[in-house]
Amino acid sequence: MASSSLSLLLLLFILASLLSASTVAYNVSYDSRSLIINGHRKLLISAAIHYPRSVPAMWPGLVDLAKKGGVDVIETYVFWNGHELSPDNYYFGGRYDLVKFCKIVQQAGMYLILRIGPFVAAEWNFGGVPVWLHYVPGTVFRTDNEPFKHYMQKFMTYIVNMMKKEKLFASQGGPIILAQVENEYGFYETAYGEGGKRYAQWSASMAVAQNTGVPWIMCQQFDPPDTVIDTCNSFYCDNFKPISPHKPKFWTENWPGWFKTFGASDPHRPPEDVAFSVARFFQKGGSLQNYYMYHGGTNFGRTSGGPFITTSYDYDAPIDEYGLARCPKWGHLKDLHRSIKLCEHALLNGEPSLLSLGPSQEADVYEDPTGACTAFISNMDDKNDKTVVFRNTSYYLPAWSVSILPDCKNVVFNTAKVGSQTSVVEMIPTDLQPSATSPNKDLKGVQWDVFVEKAGAWDTADFTKNGLVDHINTTKDTTDYLWYTTSLHVDETEEFLKNGRSPMLLVESKGHAMHVFVNKKLQASASGNGTVSRFKFTSPISLKAGNNEIALLSMTVGLQNAGAFYEWIGAGPTSVRIEGLKNGTVDLSTSIWTYKIGLQGEHLRIYDTNNLNAVKWESTPEPPKQQPLTWYKAVVDSPPGNEPIGLDMMHMGKGLAWLNGEEIGRYWPRKASKYEICVQKCDYRGKFSPNKCNTGCGEPTQRWYHVPRSWFKPSGNILVIFEEKGGDPTQIRFSARKVSNVCSHISEDHPSFYSESLQKSSTGEYSNKATVSLKCPTNKQISAVKFASFGDPVGTCGSYARGQCHDPNSVLVVGKVCLHKNDCELELSKKNFDMELCPSLVKKLAVEVVCS
Ligand SMILES: *[C@@H]1O[C@H](CO)[C@@H](O)[C@H](O)[C@H]1NC(C)=O
Ligand SMILES: *[C@@H]1O[C@H](CO)[C@@H](O)[C@H](O)[C@H]1NC(C)=O
Ligand SMILES: *[C@@H]1O[C@H](CO)[C@@H](O)[C@H](O)[C@H]1NC(C)=O
Ligand SMILES: *[C@@H]1O[C@H](CO)[C@@H](O)[C@H](O)[C@H]1NC(C)=O
Ligand SMILES: *[C@@H]1O[C@H](CO)[C@@H](O)[C@H](O)[C@H]1NC(C)=O
Repeated sequence: MASSSLSLLLLLFILASLLSASTVAYNVSYDSRSLIINGHRKLLISAAIHYPRSVPAMWPGLVDLAKKGGVDVIETYVFWNGHELSPDNYYFGGRYDLVKFCKIVQQAGMYLILRIGPFVAAEWNFGGVPVWLHYVPGTVFRTDNEPFKHYMQKFMTYIVNMMKKEKLFASQGGPIILAQVENEYGFYETAYGEGGKRYAQWSASMAVAQNTGVPWIMCQQFDPPDTVIDTCNSFYCDNFKPISPHKPKFWTENWPGWFKTFGASDPHRPPEDVAFSVARFFQKGGSLQNYYMYHGGTNFGRTSGGPFITTSYDYDAPIDEYGLARCPKWGHLKDLHRSIKLCEHALLNGEPSLLSLGPSQEADVYEDPTGACTAFISNMDDKNDKTVVFRNTSYYLPAWSVSILPDCKNVVFNTAKVGSQTSVVEMIPTDLQPSATSPNKDLKGVQWDVFVEKAGAWDTADFTKNGLVDHINTTKDTTDYLWYTTSLHVDETEEFLKNGRSPMLLVESKGHAMHVFVNKKLQASASGNGTVSRFKFTSPISLKAGNNEIALLSMTVGLQNAGAFYEWIGAGPTSVRIEGLKNGTVDLSTSIWTYKIGLQGEHLRIYDTNNLNAVKWESTPEPPKQQPLTWYKAVVDSPPGNEPIGLDMMHMGKGLAWLNGEEIGRYWPRKASKYEICVQKCDYRGKFSPNKCNTGCGEPTQRWYHVPRSWFKPSGNILVIFEEKGGDPTQIRFSARKVSNVCSHISEDHPSFYSESLQKSSTGEYSNKATVSLKCPTNKQISAVKFASFGDPVGTCGSYARGQCHDPNSVLVVGKVCLHKNDCELELSKKNFDMELCPSLVKKLAVEVVCS
């Protein structure tokens, strides 16, 4: 054979091995410092994205946006109750297509952490454990209990085998580098006594015996066996130490925000503090950090737990519920990740030394034998900025911040200095557009067809019983709704019939919410909240002489998702009394009650596009408003454009919504009390807690409900709403989520590293020209410069104003560089601005541009 064809063969062979590189097995192990992949220590940034909290059409975009944000690993829980619908009846379609999700991560060239649990908490219904398991006789969750362990092991094995079959573990060339068993058991273990201890040990052994070839983790586990790695979940994990000195320091949950509950205000965690916590963690020897959540997404249908967790699971995460980068959080963390990555080698292989630079100031320095040096300098003072001297150089550190010096000399990043852009995001309403296929397309606005539920047992009762039963034990969570109906005879001689003084109804309930109907009329509504599920209330009711029907519609709003013995927490009324009758107080708690599980519309699945005709819908030109127990149906066109869509339910009461049979979820524009504590501007300095930086006091906790674009057809979409207590359907709108403007505000001494184009120069020095970067969404251009001032501008994005010092060419220069482009970069140098202006000031550039 000629040598040229030999080398061609060789070339082909090399090419073939390169192409298949992603499916070649690789070795994941660890030492006390980090994970070791194919013999190399790895510093890893991970991002939680839960597959059922978005839709398959969004997965590639979310994973890609995480990768662009400097993330190496995607992390997800596995949601048992979404997969094992009844014993041995598995589902992996649609949003639950776990294998598809894993392969999207793999194709993006990223790693995956699979937290199988299968208990996951996660603000997810029942913590992810199927409700049916609670009703397998003798079962107690999360302890040394045979039925629980049997079903847990069966599911764990099922998932592991499925992953093995698809070659998804690293040991098979797949993306999975770590797997988790159980979840945050440490806090509850003692409540289960010796059984708890045995269960924790059993869980670890059972997992390790699965033989996946990758290490197992247990988060917040305080007595982990040596076969697993215990990891930290918190807002800060710099002080965390794994129990064994042979384990690396991993952070499985850094919460960049917090979840919301219906009726409470909206928590935000400032990007400067998230970055501070991450930098501190790596400063103090951490090597793997996961954002929980990086994209929170949506609790579609009835998947939210709590109780009272909202349908939105936005979490104030770097990628918002709708899949858009949340800026500046996303960009600031991206800059942070790039800066930390520059330090990877020295951090993981260097010898650490700690230097005190003041009472709350310190430097951690990592130097390796090759002379590479990296330093993190922090100022933990939560009020005062500070200048410190490190290696004979002065460094100015804002309060509560960390500076990163990849070469022990130049600061490339400070956690408190946000250089990345801020986006202004708006929800732009569009009227619902009737579809050509709808019957009265000539009408102005959409036509709503109506079906009204009967209050009380709407058909043959499911059962009749003396006394009040537990709600969850009765519905087994097949529905939110349970009707409790009884009757009360009122004698004609009752005084109140003459003097008009209404008798009072007194109800006590374990939760979560209730509407009271007397003789088919809504009399009262009440509910608990995310802090206290129980509630009691007193309400006047109108009774008539003779027989009265009292019908309570009791509701769950997501089942308990965590806590010791959480599966035993019940719901529903425990006491029903009436005061103000001749006899004094009449206790109905022990009366005969008839029970009906769920609504008629639910039984007939009238939201399902195949079953729409199971009831007779009334077509009326004007739909009824403020009418309880009403189903509404409309045929609508897809909203124009391609922005993500939220359904505006501001003017509705409470209920459920579907599009084309897909479950949008529970809606409830319940307002946060205006007496809660909210902030105008959040002070990032100091320890964060979930209530520190809330907004939305006095406003609905959740007004918009995400309807994924992939659920829409161009025309003929069926929108179905079930309204419990009364609302105005004519006010329902689709709102498009748009980035209208972007802003940037940085000073001339800003570390320049965040700019993509600026790397180490040929002389090995980092450029120190501060640079502004602006970027509109894909397919949008910078169409106008709304504001630009180089000098000492004041204000925040949306309300910038000139200060005393202003370069008059600012707008012109920004326009010249940026107009009609999707993105642009501007150096704060004399090329662009008058650097001699106001020489005593550290000057800043503030810019706001319009994207269209
Ligand atoms: C994986 O790497 C570890 C440590 O580097 C080593 O001890 C182990 O033998 C390797 N395993 C395989 C299957 O190569
Ligand atoms: C929840 O309800 C409890 C008891 O009624 C009340 O004290 C608390 O303020 C409520 N919390 C919120 C956030 O509304
Ligand atoms: C700092 O300055 C002192 C005195 O000028 C010098 O002796 C020392 O070597 C310097 N240290 C470093 C790290 O440059
Ligand atoms: C539900 O039923 C089970 C078994 O019948 C019982 O042990 C449990 O106490 C009930 N739960 C509640 C909250 O009433
Ligand atoms: C009131 O008391 C009388 C006599 O004890 C009894 O017959 C009647 O049923 C009671 N009425 C109600 C509404 O409980």
